[in-house]
Amino acid sequence: MSNAPTVRSAGAAPAATLHNPLGLRGVDHIEFLVDDAERWANYYIQHYGMYHRGYGDTQSGLKGRKAFVVGQGRVTFLFAQAEGTGPEAEAIREFVGKHGNGVKDVAFRVHDTEQALKAASSKGAKIVRPLDEHEIFIGGTIAAYGDVVHSFIQRKKHATFAPGYVNIAGGAEDGEIHFAMIDHIVANVEHMEEWCAYYRDIFGFDQLAHFDINTGRSALMSKVMTDEDGYVKLPINEPSSKNSQIQEFLDEFKGPGVQHIALLTPNVIATTRAMRESGVEFLEVPDTYYDEHFDERVGEIKEDKQTLRDLGVLVDRDRPDGYLLQIFTQPVFDRPTLFHEIIQRRGNSAGFGEGNFRALFEAIEREQAKRGTL
Ligand SMILES: [Fe+2]
Repeated sequence: MSNAPTVRSAGAAPAATLHNPLGLRGVDHIEFLVDDAERWANYYIQHYGMYHRGYGDTQSGLKGRKAFVVGQGRVTFLFAQAEGTGPEAEAIREFVGKHGNGVKDVAFRVHDTEQALKAASSKGAKIVRPLDEHEIFIGGTIAAYGDVVHSFIQRKKHATFAPGYVNIAGGAEDGEIHFAMIDHIVANVEHMEEWCAYYRDIFGFDQLAHFDINTGRSALMSKVMTDEDGYVKLPINEPSSKNSQIQEFLDEFKGPGVQHIALLTPNVIATTRAMRESGVEFLEVPDTYYDEHFDERVGEIKEDKQTLRDLGVLVDRDRPDGYLLQIFTQPVFDRPTLFHEIIQRRGNSAGFGEGNFRALFEAIEREQAKRGTL
């Protein structure tokens, strides 16, 4: 094993730093700016088992956009495209022209938007949309990494998604694909420390973990920032080599952005099977990943190994009393930028699959050795 990867990990910071100055209650929704909102909403309905929740356009009261809201469980995705002229439509066109389709807003539910905006700006956050108060909803937005923003949303009534949107009946949520909530949202940035400081100073987040991963092909540093309840987990990656997959993202997305959104499922096997049947493509796993090294590394698990192998699901034991199962999709849009992770946690699993970086790297090396190319 010449270029064996290194994975170092450090523990959590002291509990004294834990607090919630913005009154965050979790992720409200993720907003994607895209070339064709209907097409991408339908893509998630067809392949991710999501359901229609809302729709809006200039007729229903939105400015410069047409948007579809889809979701499942506590996962809500908003797909918006430019419609007509004016500054709102131009901003969407500019974003999509520069970055391709991608995440614009990681919106948080808060107890009190006014208080959240005040607290954030007092710590140096840049307000990009001031307090915006409606009968059902109070919003406001601050800038984050790259062109990504964080909206704060206080819901007074659950009549509709937001002002200017109408509800669409979504039907019973009874398919094979089950997503309960967003597990984590990963940012790729140029300077990790700057954005760790942003989430620490403005959001009061704590550093949950630190990884320094070098597999030769994919050198990256990562820190995981989290809120006090652990409902919002934001790993932040920085490339540590020119050929890093993080650098490739920064080049393709033309700057920092959301790299992947991990969706939590109570049954990764059923979910992956249904997604594969619908035509979703996942990252390929070398067969050597499931050889005797797998059993040594993960120990006893409840799932049938052959089933995991057939589906390409990865396993990482991050604690003696917990492990996670995960699988990564191919990039969703045209550019190799955003993808999804489907994740199931067993026991007290709290990791992000960092053991799989090394395991995958070594499996590829064993595959190459078998073919005589190493
Ligand atoms: Fe992840």
